[in-house]
Amino acid sequence: MGGAPQQPEQLPHTHWHPHLWHPFAQEALHDPPRMVRAGHGPWLELADGRRVLDGISSWWVTLHGHGEPTIAAAIAAQAQKLEQVIFANFSHRPAATLAQRLCQAWPGLDRLFFSDNGSTAVEVCLKMALQYWHNRGEPRQQLIAFDGAYHGDTFGAMALGTRSLFTTPFDPLLFAVARCRCPATWWGDDTVDHREQAALQHLDQLLETPTAAVIIEPLVQGAGGMAMVRPAFLQQVAQRVQTAGALLVADEVMTGFGRTGALFASHRSGIQPDLVALSKGLTGGFLPMAVSLARETVYQAFVADDPRHTFFHGHSFTANPLGCAAANASLTLLSAHPERYQGFAERHRPHLEALARLSNLEHPRLCGTIAAIDLRVDQPGYLHEAGRQIQRACLAAGVFLRPLGHVLYLLPPLSMNDEQLEQCYDALGRAVQGLVG
Ligand SMILES: Cc1ncc(COP(=O)(O)O)c(C=O)c1O
Repeated sequence: MGGAPQQPEQLPHTHWHPHLWHPFAQEALHDPPRMVRAGHGPWLELADGRRVLDGISSWWVTLHGHGEPTIAAAIAAQAQKLEQVIFANFSHRPAATLAQRLCQAWPGLDRLFFSDNGSTAVEVCLKMALQYWHNRGEPRQQLIAFDGAYHGDTFGAMALGTRSLFTTPFDPLLFAVARCRCPATWWGDDTVDHREQAALQHLDQLLETPTAAVIIEPLVQGAGGMAMVRPAFLQQVAQRVQTAGALLVADEVMTGFGRTGALFASHRSGIQPDLVALSKGLTGGFLPMAVSLARETVYQAFVADDPRHTFFHGHSFTANPLGCAAANASLTLLSAHPERYQGFAERHRPHLEALARLSNLEHPRLCGTIAAIDLRVDQPGYLHEAGRQIQRACLAAGVFLRPLGHVLYLLPPLSMNDEQLEQCYDALGRAVQGLVG
């Protein structure tokens, strides 16, 4: 073991720590992480005393803002009463309240299962769908997902996602998933009708094979590049899935809790999934927690005298009371101020219109709180160097963004005001204009 441990206050403000391993980060290529000492609303306060605006809600989780006092207070109060209990044998009021509220918000979905993050919420939906068919004695194996999908980093979630740079080392071990085209669209796109029809025909062909489930990220595919599809397309998908008797799974890990301008993207799209995965904004971004919601008919396929029908899945921290308290407080805030998410798109719009006039940008698109635009480059992709140049320039201007390679986007916390939003766009516009190479 190396010498005496460094006291946190002695740590450099920017460094690769000898004992930490950061996610999606490459020490040999990337700028080192910056120490953060506090967060308030849309602001992150760095250890060197600078403040930066969190333009992407810290990986899309910080829903209202950092340090939201009502959520902090709810967690503190719950911690005084009950911090954790095994959920296989016990229940508690914060979990029951949360289940009641979320099932009320999702007519048609009556059962809620807890897990810890977006990937596990997806895994749970996947296992529920497969075991649903198994328990009914009519096993179906085919799963259908969309081109460009990202559903998380655990093995099942990776398998559902598009094969990519992220999955290459594991590809031989990932189970096969049938993949449907995804007709992503943007402002001024005159090819979308044609591409939607082609995708639906493709889906029809795939659904000729008995299918257990079809999984979608409704309205916006997140990590796949903030790719947006139209509600009418999703309605057509849902209708076909229903006709084929397959289960429709909505991965609303990113789109849930107001991100797309409605409380849930499925509602805005006019579709009714059989299973839904939620996480990220669930606790307002305070604690790692996820839920999978299911139709009562799905649940009933697991209720039987035969113990083999049991859903043998659970995590140590299932239904953690602190997470439930945070989620309940976050839902209270959301329902008290729906205008904060409903009105966000119109606040983005003039800025995105101005940005779209820059000649090296294309494909502007907007959905609720999420605004995206692509750099016009020869070799688009997650590794495109321009993304990091832009991230660096924006940070120097007091704004934290994390482009997905050539895809630039903003996904701010709801508490970001007009002036702060303008600062984000200003930094982004200047960064794009200052691109070199
Ligand atoms: C649509 C979607 N599903 C699942 C996940 C995985 O969530 P987590 O990172 O919490 O495991 C993500 C994460 O970005 C996501 O955007």
